[in-house]
Amino acid sequence: MYRIKHIIPILGLLLLGWGCNQETDVKVIPYPQSITEEEGYFPIKENTPLYTNLQGEEKSRMAAYLQSLPAPFNGELQEETGAEGGITLKITPTAQEGGDESYALNINPKGVVIEAGTSAGLFYGLQTLLQWIEPAGQTTGTVRAATIQDAPRFAYRGFMMDVSRHFRSKEFVLKQIDALARYKINRLHLHLTDAAGWRIEIKQYPRLTELGAWRPAERWKDWWQGEGKRQYCEAGTPGAYGGYYTQEDIREIVAYAAERHITVIPEIEMPGHSEEVLAAYPTLACSGKPYTSGEFCIGNEETFTFLENVLTEVMALFPSEYIHIGGDEANRRVWESCPKCRARMEQEGMKETSELQSYLIHRIEGFLNAHGRQLLGWDEIIEGGLAPNATVMSWRGEEGGIKAVRAGQKTVMTPGAYCYLDTYQDAPLTQPEAMGGYLPLEKVYSYDPVPQELTAEESRLVYGIQGNLWAEYIPGDEQYEYMMYPRILAIAETGWSQPERKDYPGFHARALQAVEWLQANGYHPFDLKNEAGRRPEALTPVAHKALGKPVVYNAPYNATYAAQGEKTLTDGLRGDWTYSDGAWQGFISSQRMDVVVDLEEVADIHSIEADFIQVTGPEVYLPCEVVISASEDGKAYTELARYTQDVDRNQPVCFKTYGWQGDAKARYIRYEARSGQQYGGWVFTDEIIVK
Ligand code: ACM
Ligand code: ZN
Repeated sequence: MYRIKHIIPILGLLLLGWGCNQETDVKVIPYPQSITEEEGYFPIKENTPLYTNLQGEEKSRMAAYLQSLPAPFNGELQEETGAEGGITLKITPTAQEGGDESYALNINPKGVVIEAGTSAGLFYGLQTLLQWIEPAGQTTGTVRAATIQDAPRFAYRGFMMDVSRHFRSKEFVLKQIDALARYKINRLHLHLTDAAGWRIEIKQYPRLTELGAWRPAERWKDWWQGEGKRQYCEAGTPGAYGGYYTQEDIREIVAYAAERHITVIPEIEMPGHSEEVLAAYPTLACSGKPYTSGEFCIGNEETFTFLENVLTEVMALFPSEYIHIGGDEANRRVWESCPKCRARMEQEGMKETSELQSYLIHRIEGFLNAHGRQLLGWDEIIEGGLAPNATVMSWRGEEGGIKAVRAGQKTVMTPGAYCYLDTYQDAPLTQPEAMGGYLPLEKVYSYDPVPQELTAEESRLVYGIQGNLWAEYIPGDEQYEYMMYPRILAIAETGWSQPERKDYPGFHARALQAVEWLQANGYHPFDLKNEAGRRPEALTPVAHKALGKPVVYNAPYNATYAAQGEKTLTDGLRGDWTYSDGAWQGFISSQRMDVVVDLEEVADIHSIEADFIQVTGPEVYLPCEVVISASEDGKAYTELARYTQDVDRNQPVCFKTYGWQGDAKARYIRYEARSGQQYGGWVFTDEIIVK
């Protein structure tokens, strides 16, 4: 990823010769493929005429969209005659060569012409024009003369909205569609069903929304962890929190998105994440009882009847090629002890419960395919055998996506480390509580959806990229927008612009302007200009007496959070705001860290310290006991410092240094840190600094 930074200065020099590089005053996100700025301006006035050769439904759809914009764009869309002095949206069959969404935008002092092979291309040319107008954010003013040729890198540029954990109104969804379209996102994936609430009216199964859409606590965290937890309540119960989209709401959302060239993809979770369904229809659970699992019984034919009936109503509402069926995080243990599931396994000759999961996915894929639709699912759908035509959404890193393309199937890349927008976007202590992690704008932007190990042929199956915004920790609408913007703009540009056009400083400058536009238009983005940025300790290596010295582990570090292995604690590199950044090392076995640093000779020492991180969501806590001791011979140790404390669960994220200062002679330094055993068991540290 960081290769790009080294290429850009050279590329910049080359591009100066063509008059187009990111140093020019280009405001557009995503950055277009080629811009040639020319002399002069075209003025856009309130009465500047609009012309088009679009016909029929495409013309009405464009006209309906234009009505939502200020003058002159909401003016009458007149028949194109070749007249100058206006803004012309022109379908030109030859323009399709650049791909379905490509366009050419030509601005000269006599007028503006957008040419494309499709109405989607015209729509995107129009979005570029809207961002090209001076003063920025206005729809009247001047536009600098230029020729822009543009086309997306990827066909799929998505955003996933989790409306289960906290329901969002139809109006909120429509508002986000407006902004997503401005930045040329073309897929809105709605996570409509999950334990926290079922959000779509299904006529055949009214209990899904009479019961499954309502819960007694508003905040997900209270409901998940608190009193009477994880229960549903009847619609209309005083204090019931939740909601759902009626089928009429869905039709409106789908049509509104289509006018903006966004396809809405519904997600109906199966076989896991379905507690709300099983509370409403308990016979679909292995136990036959509510509140016993989140997994459908795969041995029960009723499950398939239910899922097919639900999907039939869903397909009637969503014309998308894809139907997302979830597929993630099913707890297969519930099937092991179920007689119906065991009978299914026997009958189908299955050995593992993972095959039950793939049995369901394959069957549902067959059903969708028979109705002319394709299956999209989280990368777990690969396990137990990939369904033959499925497209894989790779979220647990890139491996799932790589496996899918190597099997000849398409993938949408959405790895958690770059695309999960429910993580902290700035120093956690300055932010509202989030899921954890640290994913600033720059890191989102650094992602390349084509893994380097893919061949050119394989990489053609990388269908695109998606940003996901899960909402467990996001009760309010304003907070949802805060987490979404401007990071979704980095996803938008990564999905659209060629890698050689990407340049973080240039993007950052444009994102600052986009934040102003978002604020001026009623959105609540993160205030990028006041970004605190990375953890200061992580920015420069620290020099100290133990640097590069060997470390003996009396208790092993965890293999998943090994960081740099045995070098980690004396490599001079400090961790950033997240424990998964390769600088923090994690300990969980025997619930303690216990290491000895060997300075390789007896030395005068004056201080020993180590930092710890707490992130309560994933049960990473500060230690409840720290003991620091030293020895000259490695046998007899003198205790230098000891701390004991209760773990404070009320601090979602914090950092703390535990150290000793004084005068001692030592060759061996032992550092022990025990976790508070009542909570999880993780402790994480990044460096043992000896001075
Ligand atoms: C997921 O984050 N469980 C897809
Ligand atoms: Zn079962």
